[in-house]
Amino acid sequence: MARGASEPAARLLISVVGARPNFMKVAPIVRALRDCGHIAHQVVHTGQHYDPSMSADFFRDLDLPRPLCNLEVGSGSHAQQTALVMQRLEPVLRETRPAMVLVYGDVNSTLAAALVAAKLGIPVAHVEAGLRSRDRAMPEEINRVLTDRLADSLLAPSRDAVENLLREGTEPERIYFVGNVMIDTLVSGLESARARNLPQRYGVEPEGYGVVTLHRPGNVDDPARLTQLCRALIELGRDLPLLFPVHPRTRARLPDAAWTGHGARVRALDPLSYLDMLGLIASAALVITDSGGLQEETTYLGTPCLTIRPTTERPITCTEGTNRLVAPTPRAILDAARSARRTGRRPASIEGWDGRAAQRIAAVLTASGARGSPRDLVTACPAPRGEALLPTERP
Ligand code: UD1
Repeated sequence: MARGASEPAARLLISVVGARPNFMKVAPIVRALRDCGHIAHQVVHTGQHYDPSMSADFFRDLDLPRPLCNLEVGSGSHAQQTALVMQRLEPVLRETRPAMVLVYGDVNSTLAAALVAAKLGIPVAHVEAGLRSRDRAMPEEINRVLTDRLADSLLAPSRDAVENLLREGTEPERIYFVGNVMIDTLVSGLESARARNLPQRYGVEPEGYGVVTLHRPGNVDDPARLTQLCRALIELGRDLPLLFPVHPRTRARLPDAAWTGHGARVRALDPLSYLDMLGLIASAALVITDSGGLQEETTYLGTPCLTIRPTTERPITCTEGTNRLVAPTPRAILDAARSARRTGRRPASIEGWDGRAAQRIAAVLTASGARGSPRDLVTACPAPRGEALLPTERP
């Protein structure tokens, strides 16, 4: 019998991604679902990030397939960007009628896609569910909370994320502890990243340099704050050469911060591709950042990390890893850098951060989820049993 226009395509799954950190999260899921063999999986790119260095270079490094379409929403205010993703995604989902939409992380594209799919009655799975900073001043926290409310299946990267969801009253049956897909990507890319000899390319000694990234509005939008941070970097650079790949948001604001740091000791670079960034942080003595993903990557690699933020949605990187939260003042940053460098490299082993999270997600989606509530696939891996989220037979 032919499928009616409103019936779901039982075996089609659509992942919606839009911004740089989403690309690292979808990559292992593309591979794991491809390995299943019987699932059609398509990626829709919202176009939230569009510069080659923020998008195409990641698709190349991560060997991501050409997206089904690019919605080309580009930049704008939060409301504009979120609304445009919704407006342009709705007809795509109406047309393709996937059995499920997968959304990733906490960017504006994530919330927009979850909202559209939920209102069309399409089940939503949220990869990286349950992270909370409890800081509503960050737009990502609003995106996380709302996406988790909308999603039917919550795929949590760590036990504290599961706890957050339970504390908020989420039904345990919706929660799956699957582990961290960012670490899947790191594990599969580390060897080729190291083979690129990044320290040599940038003329620094392995373990003898720092890497800096700053892009949060809270740090870069206020010229006084950014000036303070630049002062700290220049001061620290006297001791430790720093490589600073600059996000476009930050690049636009550096002139207002009287940036004079571009020189031999603090080098401002264009944004780096995934493998280049990984190659650099894997051999760095120190990372200074306000990114979310870098907190996790440095914890896995054991690279000391200073996060210039008052809160983190990834507290496990502080309690079990190498991350510490640092105030945005030169004094605090210099003191923390000194003490972090004394501690040195200290890789952490966190439950479910083992390179197999995407396999567990594929198991949840296609074959069998684990029993119990909330369902723990990290302990149950590699052969969980239970009901599938996607139908296994064509209707
Ligand atoms: C977004 C995410 C943030 C994530 C970050 C990773 C939200 C709310 N924020 O922040 O969580 O950590 O991506 O990079 O979704 N721009 C370009 N070229 C691009 C993309 C952006 O020049 O390809 C410039 C534009 O001036 C734009 C600004 O960067 O206005 C900010 O981009 P946007 O996607 O709005 O937010 P991010 O700061 O990148």
